[in-house]
Order: sequence, then C-alpha cells, then structure tokens
Amino acid sequence: VQRLLLAMIGSIVVIGALAWWDEQRNSEAGLAELGDDQYAAASAAAASVAPDLAGTAFPERAARHLHALQRDGVRVFLVAPGAQSALALDGSSVALPHLAPGARVLRLGRDEAPVVGLPPRTAMVGVADAPSGWRVVVAASAERQRDRDSAGLARLLLSMGVATGLVAIFGGIALARQRTQLELAQRLAVAEAARARDAELERLSKAATMAAVASGVAHELSTPLGVIVGRAEQIRDRAADERTQKAAHAILEQAANVDEVVRGFLGLARGAPIALQEVAPAKLVAEAAELVAHRFARAGVTLATPIAADLPAIRCEPLLFKHALVNLLLNAVDASPAGSTVTLDVSRAGAEVAFVVTDDGEGITPAAAARAKEPFFTTKGHGTGLGLAIAHEIASTHRGTLSIGPRPTRGTEASISIPAGPHA
Ligand SMILES: Nc1ncnc2c1ncn2[C@@H]1O[C@H](COP(=O)(O)OP(=O)(O)OP(=O)(O)O)[C@@H](O)[C@H]1O
Ligand SMILES: [Mg+2]
Repeated sequence: VQRLLLAMIGSIVVIGALAWWDEQRNSEAGLAELGDDQYAAASAAAASVAPDLAGTAFPERAARHLHALQRDGVRVFLVAPGAQSALALDGSSVALPHLAPGARVLRLGRDEAPVVGLPPRTAMVGVADAPSGWRVVVAASAERQRDRDSAGLARLLLSMGVATGLVAIFGGIALARQRTQLELAQRLAVAEAARARDAELERLSKAATMAAVASGVAHELSTPLGVIVGRAEQIRDRAADERTQKAAHAILEQAANVDEVVRGFLGLARGAPIALQEVAPAKLVAEAAELVAHRFARAGVTLATPIAADLPAIRCEPLLFKHALVNLLLNAVDASPAGSTVTLDVSRAGAEVAFVVTDDGEGITPAAAARAKEPFFTTKGHGTGLGLAIAHEIASTHRGTLSIGPRPTRGTEASISIPAGPHA
C-alpha cells in the first residue's frame, strides 16, 4: 500500500509538471495572439487616420484622433517616415526598443515596458504602415494575459492539492485497514501457538498418565498373579489325572505370559531398552492370530493371513510386538460386521516391513484417525482408548511407525512399519 501511495503521488507530480508545461505553452500562444491583436488594432488605426498623415510634421489631428484608443495598459505612438524612435501622442520622443524597419510585432520585456509608459510586465506591440510612410504603433501590456495565466496556475495547484489529498485519505484508510488486518493475523497466530502448546501439554500429560496407569496396573497385578501361579502349581503337583495337570500347565503358561507383558509395559513406561530377537513375521502373525482367535470366533468374523513365505526375519521384542498386532486386530474385529473378513498381511516396502490390518467395517472418520493414537481417546462405550496408544509406543520403541486411516472404498486400514532386520 505504501508503494502504491508513492506511485500515485509520483504520477500526480508528473501530471502536474506536464500541465504546467502546457500552461506555459498556452501563455506563449496567448502572447502571440495579443501581438496579432495589437497589429490589427494598429492597422485599423492607420487606415482611419491615413488622410491626416503627410510629410514629416507631427500630425496633430491624427494624434488627437488616436488619443481615443489609449486606455489603461494600452499606449499608441506614431513613427515619422524613416525615424528610428517613436513619438508619443503629445509629440514627445520615445525610444521604442526593437523598433526596426518592416517590424510588425514587437515584444517588450518587463524592464522595457516602462520605457513606453506601461507597467513592468511583458508587453506586445503592433506596428502598422500607413501609405504616407508614417507608422502607427499600438503597445499593450500583457497584464490580463498574466492574470489569466495565474488563475490557470491556481486552478492547477488546487486540483493537484485535491488529488493529493484524496490519495492521502484513501491511502491512509487502506494503510490503516492493512495494519488492522496484520494485527488480527498476529493475534490469531499467537492464539494458534498457544492452542498448539496446550494440545502438546495435554498429550504429554496423557502420556505420563498412561505410564503411571501402566505402572500401577503392573504393580497391582503382581500380587494376584503370584497367588494364581502359587495355586496353579499346587493343583499341578497334586492333580491325579492328566487333564487337570494340562489345565494347570495352561494356567501357568498364560500367567507367565501376563507377567512378561506386564514387565514389558513397565519397561516401556520407564523408557527402558528392549531385548531384540530375530523373528520370522509369519510366526509373529500366527501367534497374534491365535491370541485373538476366540474373539473372532465370537464375532463371526474371519481372519485371513496371506503371508508371503520369503519375508525376511525382523528384529523385535516378540511379546510386545505381538501385543501391538493384537490391538490392531481387536480394533478391526470390533469394527467388523458378522460374516466379514479381516486381513493381516505383511509386506516388504524398501527398508521397511509393514504389518497391515484391513477390515470391512464402517471405517474410521478422518477426525477420529487424527486422534486415534492419543491415550484415552475412544469412541466405544466399553473402550479404554489405550489400545492404539500402547501399540504406537511399541512401534516407536522398535524405531517404527503406526498409521491408521479410512480405506478408499470401505473400512479401515491400520499398519505398523518397522525397519527390516540386518539380514534382510
Ligand atoms: N479398525 C477400526 N475401525 C474403526 N475405528 C477404529 C478402528 N481402529 C481404531 N478405531 C478408532 O480409534 C479409537 C481408538 O482406538 P484404541 O484401540 O486406542 O481404543 P479403543 O479400541 O477405543 O479402546 P480399547 O483398545 O481399550 O478397546 C477407537 O475408539 C475407534 O474410534
Ligand atoms: Mg482398541
């Protein structure tokens, strides 16, 4: 806006200069016209007094007659045949500047005009020949012309002033508006930054709460778990029949699993490093599928795992990683209608191996997808909202990523990508 303002003022100045130059030219033209008028007046006067002009004696009668032409700013003279100077109408001699034989129009400067009794302004003089050899001279001050010029100049200055004023007012308004807009944008940016900071603080505090909850749960579970293990061992040792012994074995196995998962979560919450092993993706997928088999059976949903046989082993903490896959599979089965199929596929993409779970459910909304990894974000009445948050933590500890979003056609796709193992 400032540059625009400068450009407009610049063009006003240029227009002003052009107009001034034009005025100047006009006034030259005006002076030339004034000269022509005086020549015409002198010619007419010469014609009217021609009978009284003869010889070289001062023509009293003609002078008296010409007197009527003189008024303010106009002087009339006679020039005797062959004379170099003019005669005023009272017979006195006047050294009329620039008077030369054959001259018709003379121009007198502001310091020459007083010589012929005119005010100190440019004057135009017409010189007309009479048949007798006398010449009649009419000199007129350019006073009126000058007045017209200065009026023109005043008009010009006034219109330039008005134009500049208008530009300044509108430019000022535009500038003020721009400044308000800028201030508004700044205030919005500050508010946006504050909002982003609050959101980040909230996320951090939720993550901290999650870690605290995980530690609390792990701590509280250790006592009942100890009791379960102790009693199961008693049953195993005392059981007479093989079936009971097998059942006790299964309880102890699952209890050991729970213990390990709990320890794993505690480690995650503490940020402890994890122990990596090389595992075949197909094995991980099969074990995860087994863990969720009863949930799929209950929901009447099929789980397909079309895993390629030639996939490289990945380095991971198997229990934790399996748990992350289980969380994706449980979300998929929760969203799936009975009779549909959920697919867990593994594919190699460059230096990464991706575990991709797709379902044919309602699909996740973009808004829910954006928040799905937040701890405690859930749209389910019975959900904790921790499933994806934990899976995300597990993916991050494996230097991988978790992503979730709607599929183009129908349903949801959730995937965990981690770097392929060193032997890949
Ligand atoms: N396959 C999916 N289809 C549709 N929405 C999904 C899917 N997976 C996740 N979501 C959405 O993401 C939210 C968060 O998932 P997350 O697993 O973290 O929690 P949850 O499943 O609600 O609770 P919990 O895991 O404790 O059962 C879900 O509530 C749901 O809105
Ligand atoms: Mg879940």
